[in-house]
Amino acid sequence: MRVRVLGTAAGGGSPQWNCACQQCGHARSSGTHRSQDSVAVSGNGSDWYLLNASPDIRTQILSTLELTPGPATRETPLRGVLLTDAELDHVLGLFQLREAATLDVYATAAVLGALDGPLPVRRVVDPYGRGWGWHAVTDEFELKGGLTVRPFPLGDKKPRYASDRDGDGWVVGYRIGDFVYAPCFAQWTDSLDEALDGARVALIDGTFLAADEMPDVKGHLSIHDSASHVACHPGVRFLYTHLNNTNPLLSGGFAYPVATEMEVL
Ligand code: MLT
Ligand code: MN
Ligand code: ZN
Repeated sequence: MRVRVLGTAAGGGSPQWNCACQQCGHARSSGTHRSQDSVAVSGNGSDWYLLNASPDIRTQILSTLELTPGPATRETPLRGVLLTDAELDHVLGLFQLREAATLDVYATAAVLGALDGPLPVRRVVDPYGRGWGWHAVTDEFELKGGLTVRPFPLGDKKPRYASDRDGDGWVVGYRIGDFVYAPCFAQWTDSLDEALDGARVALIDGTFLAADEMPDVKGHLSIHDSASHVACHPGVRFLYTHLNNTNPLLSGGFAYPVATEMEVL
């Protein structure tokens, strides 16, 4: 199994276009940019799937040798996208993938409902392709290339644009082979502990270092608050991802491990 990190920043990226804070200023002047959270995985090196489709997806794909099209003119190794939630930083990239003739999108029923409701991605992109597959995930499922995927629940954080919608199952993580991807969770749950059991590498929510970093933003357990749970899984290599531009880890100098873009895990 191959795992390539494409983006490691939270919504807005680092630097954020309209932010003049010290960290964004430093990222801007030093050129140490981070793009928005996304990962590419493959079981065989030729069939690839994205975990979340960020607004930065075009440049992320152009920077990733494994996602180069060919040999036929419109042949691509990209087979699909697995969504962890319906947040804009994780789904807006679907619009940019509209040139794909076929693409399999996997998400929970709540997320698929949002993408056919207040953010009508399905209705917008479907006329461009030959018909994408939209798959509701519940239990374990298989991907081309020999990957087995197990979604697990991580809460009910709804995007602001879907705040009036009902239902549960808004956020999941994925266990794929020995890899765990969980970039959004408000609490450390038993489902996360179970998914981590026997895993080799885990990319987890590193939005905030401290809970009071952005008092008006909820839904992300801080790194300080997840640290004791992380310590219960000594056999797993943890890397923090989805870093918000307020997170001091972006400036370095902390012992917490941060995912590196383009790294193969
Ligand atoms: C989040 O992760 O909380 C959201 O992506 C916030 C946002 O919409 O920017
Ligand atoms: Mn986000
Ligand atoms: Zn900033």
